[in-house]
Amino acid sequence: MAKKINIGTLISGGGTNLQAIIDACRDNRIDAKILFTGSDTPGVKGLERAKKVGIDTFIVDYSKIIRSCKKGINKKHLPKDFNLEEILSKQQLVETHASKEQTAFFLKSRAIAEKILLDHILDYNIDLLVLAGFMRVLTPYFIDRINTVPGKYKIMNIHPALLPSFPGTDGYGDTFRYGCKIGGCTVHFIDYGEDTGPIIGQKAFEIADDDTLDDIKRKGLKKEWELYPHCIQKFADCL
Ligand code: GAR
Repeated sequence: MAKKINIGTLISGGGTNLQAIIDACRDNRIDAKILFTGSDTPGVKGLERAKKVGIDTFIVDYSKIIRSCKKGINKKHLPKDFNLEEILSKQQLVETHASKEQTAFFLKSRAIAEKILLDHILDYNIDLLVLAGFMRVLTPYFIDRINTVPGKYKIMNIHPALLPSFPGTDGYGDTFRYGCKIGGCTVHFIDYGEDTGPIIGQKAFEIADDDTLDDIKRKGLKKEWELYPHCIQKFADCL
């Protein structure tokens, strides 16, 4: 067995992908150890899955943070090393038609949440951060503090569609509504755009004419549980 890589995981919900990775680590199917599971939402089942096997957990309650930002953000709320001009010049998340104020609010409020995430994450020495159903975009403020070696990506994500088709929050829904006959999932690295980073692996499945959205989700998740551990091992093999 090769040396194990240390991974951190972020989730927002049920955590079936997290469970697939936990199982793959436990069975030595991948050379990896999970050091923590963080969630943007309190009380989700994925946190229980982590706790059950003794993985450290933490919560950064994004909804609460964003609600409180809506009352007003002043300089003392922002991370000391936050530079709006720099983040604006790098970010590819907010559409160009959004107003300057909307864009600034989005980037500032997310950076406030991301600083708290970083305070948790940087306590650990991880080789890779794995987004396992984490339903928040990450801004350059966060990404640059994880990807500290130029050209080396350290954040991996799973997306429920065959990218570059159907980026965004509802990959299987978009696949279903478009009437696709093939669906799939993609594991990719995170860059400054939404679901635009380099692709590590993909798996596809056939969609029958009478498949419902639930059928597509079921077929897709089954593929995700195979694909994610495989891609993590691919990363470990390259370290
Ligand atoms: C998965 O289908 C994953 O691809 C998707 O959320 C689901 C999480 O399920 N992720 C995204 O849409 C990311 N934008 P899980 O909590 O059971 O692993």
